[in-house]
Amino acid sequence: MAPVSPNSATPAVEAHGARIPLLGLGTWELRGRACTRLVERALRLGYRHVDTAEMYDNEREVGEGLRASGIKRDEVFVTTKIWPSHFAPRELERAARDCLVRLRLSEVDLLLLHWPNPQIPLAETLGALAKVKRDGLARHIGVSNFTVALIEQAVRETSEPLICDQIECHPYLDQSKVIAACRKHGMAVVAYSPIARGGAQGDAVLEQIGLAHGKSAAQISLRYLVQQGIVVIPRTSKVQRLEENLALFDFALTEGEMLEIRALSQRKGRIVDWSWSPQWD
Ligand SMILES: NC(=O)c1ccc[n+]([C@@H]2O[C@H](COP(=O)([O-])OP(=O)(O)OC[C@H]3O[C@@H](n4cnc5c(N)ncnc54)[C@H](OP(=O)(O)O)[C@@H]3O)[C@@H](O)[C@H]2O)c1
Repeated sequence: MAPVSPNSATPAVEAHGARIPLLGLGTWELRGRACTRLVERALRLGYRHVDTAEMYDNEREVGEGLRASGIKRDEVFVTTKIWPSHFAPRELERAARDCLVRLRLSEVDLLLLHWPNPQIPLAETLGALAKVKRDGLARHIGVSNFTVALIEQAVRETSEPLICDQIECHPYLDQSKVIAACRKHGMAVVAYSPIARGGAQGDAVLEQIGLAHGKSAAQISLRYLVQQGIVVIPRTSKVQRLEENLALFDFALTEGEMLEIRALSQRKGRIVDWSWSPQWD
């Protein structure tokens, strides 16, 4: 993964030729007109990256928000994800086309496998994902919720570069092994739940560091990640928080502050429930 491009208006990371804006809008649980409005407002405020999924049941509204914003299509990085029940090759291609119909786009910037699915050979799914890319439905492809072992397998078996692993990542979870595996293979890390589903707010350490910078605990949590070149996709249902979550690029944490935040992390610090998901290791 190349370092952050410091001079661009929207800071970004580069991975296998893709330029991924470091800040995106997460949209899980945003629905209907509220979703359209938030996407529109976020883009008008300066966001250039939106994260959705077929499972979120909001791709229509995300596409509407994109058009309502008036921002040119090629200036916005749009990610969607295929649900594991659609990983059989023919199913995956159909699901990708359905995503584009709902978004009313001719291609997405990034198409991800949402979670691993041990029922279907990964090589077959990756073959279909690569074909979807070659057919022009997605500019880039990647994975989500892949462990180190799965990243290694996926990199061996894919015919097209995988540009990222989208994983749970915030100050309370030690993801150093997965991050190292991504870096080894030139993949970006995209952090979901980057403010620990709101849990960063009220944290004594983050609040204290925030005081020194005139920032909130949520902003410190996000800055901690982007300062490591990790892409963040915080979600909010509140227009006023869109601006707060965008204001990450006008200050820097000291090395000491970075270490203090790192000390909060634990191997078992996951907040997203994986128990429903078939585990590979
Ligand atoms: N690939 C995957 O499997 C996967 C899994 C989970 C999530 N994701 C993606 O990642 C995105 C973000 O993750 P997430 O939604 O789980 O969690 P998150 O972004 O860490 O947290 C969202 C929560 O934080 C609150 N919040 C937002 N900004 C805040 C601020 N400045 N101060 C205090 N609280 C704030 C929001 O409440 P308000 O609405 O009240 O602001 C919301 O309850 C999702 O929306 C989705 O796009 C992907």
